[in-house]
Amino acid sequence: MDNKRIVVGLDIGTSKIDVVIGEVSENYEVRIVGVGTSPSDGLRKGVVVNIDATVKSVQKAIEEAELMAGIDVKEVYVGVAGKHIKSLTARGIVAVTSRGNEITHADVRRVIEQASTINLPTDREIVHVIPQGYAVDDQTGIKDPVGMNGVRLEGDVHIVTANTSSIQNIYKSVERAGIKVADVVLQPLAASYAVLEKDERELGVAVLDIGGGTSDLAIFVDDSIRYTNCLDLGGENVTNDVAMGISTPKERAEEIKRKWGACKITSLMHDEFVTVPGVGGREDKQVAKEFLAKIVRARMAEIFQLVAKDIQRTKLKEKLGAGIVMTGGCAMISGATELAEEIFKMPVKIGQPRKTSGLTDTVGTPLHATGLGLVLYGVEKLKQEEIEFGPGGSKAQGFLDSVKKFVTSLKNYI
Ligand SMILES: Nc1ncnc2c1ncn2[C@@H]1O[C@H](COP(=O)(O)OP(=O)(O)OP(=O)(O)O)[C@@H](O)[C@H]1O
Ligand SMILES: [Mg+2]
Repeated sequence: MDNKRIVVGLDIGTSKIDVVIGEVSENYEVRIVGVGTSPSDGLRKGVVVNIDATVKSVQKAIEEAELMAGIDVKEVYVGVAGKHIKSLTARGIVAVTSRGNEITHADVRRVIEQASTINLPTDREIVHVIPQGYAVDDQTGIKDPVGMNGVRLEGDVHIVTANTSSIQNIYKSVERAGIKVADVVLQPLAASYAVLEKDERELGVAVLDIGGGTSDLAIFVDDSIRYTNCLDLGGENVTNDVAMGISTPKERAEEIKRKWGACKITSLMHDEFVTVPGVGGREDKQVAKEFLAKIVRARMAEIFQLVAKDIQRTKLKEKLGAGIVMTGGCAMISGATELAEEIFKMPVKIGQPRKTSGLTDTVGTPLHATGLGLVLYGVEKLKQEEIEFGPGGSKAQGFLDSVKKFVTSLKNYI
């Protein structure tokens, strides 16, 4: 492991804490060497509401992953989501001042900085500033303007902002577990690193991560990120509906939902029953699978319809040539892709994590897409820093801090 670097993703989800440890080779190939998962009970709708409970679950998941990998985790990339996340697009314009009007890295940095100078209320902060594309004089649609000649450089950026206290609570929960936060990353952006292919991002695609507490969306067109949003509905709502519908405690409803829940109603279901234990001394009862499927389908349909409306509002729907890639635990509900296709009226598939070796079977499910994506995001960041400053140079030059706000040029996916 001598020349290998370690990059760790920590997905603090509403249902579970997920830790993925990646070992990075000299040419930035990633081998997954440790995975740890622990149920989380300190979160509501993607946001930390109980720090002590979150610290305990984080520690548990980290220990499990450390044991598997045989290393100590020191630093992690952490995911953030929740309704408090907002995104917008902004534009910066600068004059190219170098001799010969050749655009340099410094000009690009200036234009991004200018675009990201936005007025924010004191309780909000910037999580990401992601370059979308540039224009040089009147020529638009440029991905990398460095080396081009021109007098005016324009840059569009996608800015993601979050509630400051929510971010601080993430830092607190991780640091109290004895670990440093390398960076905070928007969860659907992280998931996109794990499940999207470059050609999908070029063609136009949306990542939809339906977890326990939230449904998170990220839209890519022409290989750049165009829109992000987090809805506060998810699998927990489905579980609650099942619990209410068949009068059973949530834990049992969760189990029944995972085992028998479906978004598709088939004629066979009519005559098939699930035994539900009675509560408060009542007798066990038989619930028709069709009834169960109707409950699950109704809530999943509501989530898809809200997301579909959101996509419609962005006016990007017609550009999603590669359709929708679904991740998160709810992607695993039987018939979810078919129902989604019906509602979105476009192709929908389940995202398959990619480009890694090692424990690929373990992380190769929609449940680990964000955790794995956080590792791949971290590796991409490491790569960009080393290309610009040489191995280890980034930290020595304090680059990490300055770059925190505008890393990820998505064209450089690994
Ligand atoms: N095999 C399965 N079949 C159906 N549903 C499942 C399955 N596994 C998990 N789920 C559901 O997925 C949800 C959890 O998904 P996930 O682990 O992606 O959420 P999370 O990341 O913890 O939460 P969030 O991202 O919303 O904060 C739960 O509601 C759970 O019931
Ligand atoms: Mg999640």
